[in-house]
Amino acid sequence: MFDVAPLPGQDRYGAMITELDPGTLGDPKVRQALHDLWIDKGLVVFRGIPGGIDTQLALSEIYGEPEVHPMMAGTDIKTEHKALAPIEFDREDGNIYEIEGEQRGGYLPWHFDGAYVDRINHGGILRPEVLPGRGGDTGFIDQIAAYALLPDRLKARIEGLSVIYSYQPDFTRAKFGSPVDKLVRMSTLFRKGMDHPSVQQRAIHPLVYQQAETGQKILHVSPWFADGIEGMENPEGDALLAEVIDHVIRPELMYFHKWQPGDMVLWDNWRMLHCATGVPPEETRIMRRTTIVGDYGLGRREEKAA
Ligand SMILES: [Fe+2]
Repeated sequence: MFDVAPLPGQDRYGAMITELDPGTLGDPKVRQALHDLWIDKGLVVFRGIPGGIDTQLALSEIYGEPEVHPMMAGTDIKTEHKALAPIEFDREDGNIYEIEGEQRGGYLPWHFDGAYVDRINHGGILRPEVLPGRGGDTGFIDQIAAYALLPDRLKARIEGLSVIYSYQPDFTRAKFGSPVDKLVRMSTLFRKGMDHPSVQQRAIHPLVYQQAETGQKILHVSPWFADGIEGMENPEGDALLAEVIDHVIRPELMYFHKWQPGDMVLWDNWRMLHCATGVPPEETRIMRRTTIVGDYGLGRREEKAA
C-alpha cells in the first residue's frame, strides 16, 4: 500500500510515509490505514508524494472536511482553493523577531491552533511552495508523550484544571514559552487579527483530557496564547503552569521537520503542538495548508462579568 518508517530522531510518536501513490487515495483500505496511522501517531510526514495541491486536498478529505481557517474568514486573502490558507514569510510585510541576537522572519512559538477560540480544529496538512535557502523548519511536540513523561506529583496537581487563553499577536508579551527578545516588525495580518470578532472573549480549555479513540491522556496546553490557570490567575498558578510548560518544551519530545520539495506534513491538532523556527529576513518561504474540520468539544468561552 505504502511504506511506513519512524521519524528521523524521534521514536515516541510520528511516522514517515513513502511510496504512496495518490491514485490509490480513493481505496477504502488505503483511506482507513492512513486515518488510523494519524490517530495512532499524531504526526505523519508524506515524503516524495506527487500531485501538489490536488493531492493535498484529496488527502485532507480522508481526515475530515477541509474548512476555511477561522482567522481567514472575512479577510480578502485569496489562494488557489478556498480551503487553502497561506502560511508565508513575506519580505515586505512579514513578522520579524529578534531571538538570541538573530533576526527571524515568520517565527512562531509553540502552540496548537485555535487555543484562543472555543472550537479546536482536528489538524492540518502543510505543503511547501517556495522553500527558503536556510531555516524554515516546522517543530512538533506530542502531548500524549509529554503527559507520559510528567512526574506523578505534577499529574496530581493539574488534574481537573483548565487554562485560559487569549489572542496575543505580540510574542514579546506572551507570558509562557516564548524566547523572543524583541519585536522588530509585526505583519498586517497579525495586527488585524486583534480586531477579529472571534478573539474578543477569552477561551478556556482543559489542561488534561483523553484521546477519544484510545483513552490515552493528553497534556493539553498551548504556551503561546495562555494567560493562566482558571481560578488561579496569580503567582502560584502561573508558576505551576510555567513548570508544566517547561516539562512539555524539552528536546526529547521535539521533532523538527526539515522541508524538502514533495513533502506534506499532517498533524493532529488535538494532541500536537507546533512551532515555526523562522527564516533569515532576506529569505522567502511560502507554504499552503489545509485545515481539517472538527471540534474536540471541550472548549468554552469565559463568562464576561456583568
Ligand atoms: Fe499554527
